Amino acid sequence: MHLHKYEKWWLILGVGTLIAFLLILGYGAFYLGTHPQSHGITIDPEKIDAEESFKPENLGLTKVDEGQYVLNVVASAFNYDLGTDEEGKPVKHIQIPKGSTVLVQAVTPDVIHGFNIAGTNANMMVEPGFISSMEVTLNKPGEYTLLCNEYCGSGHHMMFATVEVTE
Ligand code: CUA
Repeated sequence: MHLHKYEKWWLILGVGTLIAFLLILGYGAFYLGTHPQSHGITIDPEKIDAEESFKPENLGLTKVDEGQYVLNVVASAFNYDLGTDEEGKPVKHIQIPKGSTVLVQAVTPDVIHGFNIAGTNANMMVEPGFISSMEVTLNKPGEYTLLCNEYCGSGHHMMFATVEVTE
């Protein structure tokens, strides 16, 4: 069989690129241990509040220990439910002392949303059927916007809250 010179080059390039891709993928997955952040914890999107963390009274920021917080969030079109204040009004602003560790747990009953505290590495997808979680430490005082960075419908741009990191 005769292979044209260029044909041979393209074959080598193609196979070489595939091998390079698999090596990079394997390095990330096995050596660096990069895995999906939610660890595949599932939840029935129709019965979110059957889970203790997402009962209405447990939403929002809760102090669990000195410098340790849990933030439970229900993201839905087009709102972040962060619980209610003493007057029963929805919380749209949370304050976290700088340097604290916050375990963020987020779920959604409807479509895919984002959870991104702009300007920080707190960024994850919130998918129906899964509990998304990550641990966040915010060291720089200031006001940040918590926003949805997955297009979720006509009110997508109205989906936000503010997070204040205090001294
Ligand atoms: Cu929720 Cu975009």
